[in-house]
Amino acid sequence: DWNMPDYITEAVEKIRAQVGKDEVILGLSGGVDSSVAAALIHRAIGDQLTCVFVDHGLLRLNEGQMVMDMFSKNLGVKVIRVDAEDQFMGHLAGVTDPEQKRKIIGREFVEVFDKESGKLVNAKWLAQGTIYPDVIESAGKGKKGQTIKSHHNVGGLPEHMKLSLLEPLRELFKDEVRKLGVALGLPHDMVYRHPFPGPGLGVRILGEVKKEYADLLRQADAIFIEELRNTPYEFVAGQAVDADNLPKNWYEATSQAFAVFLPVKSVGVMGDGRTYEYVVALRAVQTQDFMTAHWAHLPHALLGKVSNRIINEVRGLNRVVYDISGKPPATIEWE
Ligand code: XMP
Repeated sequence: DWNMPDYITEAVEKIRAQVGKDEVILGLSGGVDSSVAAALIHRAIGDQLTCVFVDHGLLRLNEGQMVMDMFSKNLGVKVIRVDAEDQFMGHLAGVTDPEQKRKIIGREFVEVFDKESGKLVNAKWLAQGTIYPDVIESAGKGKKGQTIKSHHNVGGLPEHMKLSLLEPLRELFKDEVRKLGVALGLPHDMVYRHPFPGPGLGVRILGEVKKEYADLLRQADAIFIEELRNTPYEFVAGQAVDADNLPKNWYEATSQAFAVFLPVKSVGVMGDGRTYEYVVALRAVQTQDFMTAHWAHLPHALLGKVSNRIINEVRGLNRVVYDISGKPPATIEWE
């Protein structure tokens, strides 16, 4: 158990000693690990760090803008944002198989990242937000989500760019990374956000991914998350929460929560007319390790409010369902 300011001082000195005057590239995803790594490395070497943020068009509502505001505006970190939505959507057109979609998103990600990084001809280091559990995991089998991380480094970067790896979080567990992030000045809500998969909304739109679907899903998902954050937690029988450390709201009381887009139309009524529109499913789970999970017993009033808001505010959706499947046999994501 270490003291945070001392830890930061030590980590900063170590990074400075390691990279000297060299330039460093980091792939910023908006996730906790790469964000904390960026903040720490920036603290150590300032403008010698350039972050590359690939926006694949499968991020959550306003997420790209939030990442840019936080790093570029507030922290003064050099960030290159690559808007690659069209490229990703183009390659995903007509593809319905989940693993195929993951492969394409991973491949294009590496492509875009390498192309952008290749322009930073003076870079000598590639920084990654690898944390201790990743180190252990990649020594073992590696789960389906790891492709993006592990392949960066061996992607198509130009021959002359022999980048060395800089992994300043390698010895830290997730809770330590979070504490470090807060100590470095990252917002609490960002650092304690639920996990979000690398392929993003690509695996939360069942079957073929389309921009139209992603736009509908983003709006529904944002409403769900907003209501979870705004609804105070109250104990409901069947909850698997830590009784000594009671959550403040339903966002904190769940381990992961999101909306899923179902490309199925059902009939509804609006005013005098009938509608024929898409469905979203809400998923909220509680888990310690994400290997098994319980569906969260959200209060009916909360579910009702979210459903009303989605149907009233998102034109194109007329039905909301709640997923009450545990893992196993269901997985947390629908794909
Ligand atoms: P499942 O759906 O397998 O998810 O129960 C377990 C955890 O892993 C996340 N997940 C992924 N993360 N790339 C990632 O980076 C992926 O392809 C991927 N698939 C699932 C999921 O969000 C949950 O936290």
